[in-house]
Amino acid sequence: MAAPVLLLVFICSANFVSEVSSDGPVTLDCPSASAGVYGRDVRIRCAVTPGSGVHVFRAEWKRVRPGALVSAVSVFGAAGGSGPRFRSGWDRSSMEVWLQVQSVRLADEGHYTCLVVTDRGSAVRGTSLKVTARYSEPTVWSIPARNIEDNMEVTMFCRALGGFPRGTVHWFDQYGTNWTRSTRTDAWIREDGRFDLTSEFDVWRVSSISPGYSCRVIGWDGRGQGEAEINLAFRDPEKRVQRWSNNSIAAVIVVAGSLATGLLLLPLLQRRRPRQEVCMEGQDNENREEGPEKEEEKTC
Ligand SMILES: *[C@@H]1O[C@H](CO)[C@@H](O)[C@H](O)[C@H]1NC(C)=O
Repeated sequence: MAAPVLLLVFICSANFVSEVSSDGPVTLDCPSASAGVYGRDVRIRCAVTPGSGVHVFRAEWKRVRPGALVSAVSVFGAAGGSGPRFRSGWDRSSMEVWLQVQSVRLADEGHYTCLVVTDRGSAVRGTSLKVTARYSEPTVWSIPARNIEDNMEVTMFCRALGGFPRGTVHWFDQYGTNWTRSTRTDAWIREDGRFDLTSEFDVWRVSSISPGYSCRVIGWDGRGQGEAEINLAFRDPEKRVQRWSNNSIAAVIVVAGSLATGLLLLPLLQRRRPRQEVCMEGQDNENREEGPEKEEEKTC
């Protein structure tokens, strides 16, 4: 009878010993910083160690603001928390406690602490959240926008919206020459802290041989976030000749023709004046109204 009892005692104490031996103070391992992207969800994860056999009762996530009251943003396992955008939980399989921030804003950036309460004691650890925002695809345009001629001065603009932190814009011509030093980029800060970038590139004498330019938006990390190309809209030289030969000659004929007709009809018009009195505005330009220019007649 003594043997089984002894064995039982041994098993119990072995169990107890093994529990105690792995039962160092529970600790939390958090990343020093987690990266969130504006508008997306982000999950900050902290590992509970030692991993196996620990039961987490509670995980309390707080926001730490210098000079402000520390407030709980989310509490797992108890009531509390500041808003529906913050959720927290405990992942048993990976032994991680987490804080999820839905649709991250720049204002969420900062320091957080996590306090875990387990069946083997509690631990607290700080971590931070960094938020970046991607710029919109850039748009590029020129002033003047059309009918550009050789040796004209043209200003090009490139705009990218809603990024963070402040980025920059680089300019290249169609041969890949870097013109950034000759350009200027301004940033406007939105209410939510994001930046809108507008870059200006003034070319003193453009050439129809090299009408292609591009602007590249560079994010905070020095990497490109988007690119836009523009082909300056030069006036087509053939069209210019045609316009002269067709439109201008036609215009001259029309003007000369209406003048001649007007002069010829002048005596007639003066006799018909009483019938036209309904048309108040037309009285001053009666001569032209009776001419062949149809547009003038519509004002009556
Ligand atoms: C273009 O010039 C800018 C300003 O000098 C520089 O910061 C950038 O690295 C250059 N880009 C390339 C691709 O050479």
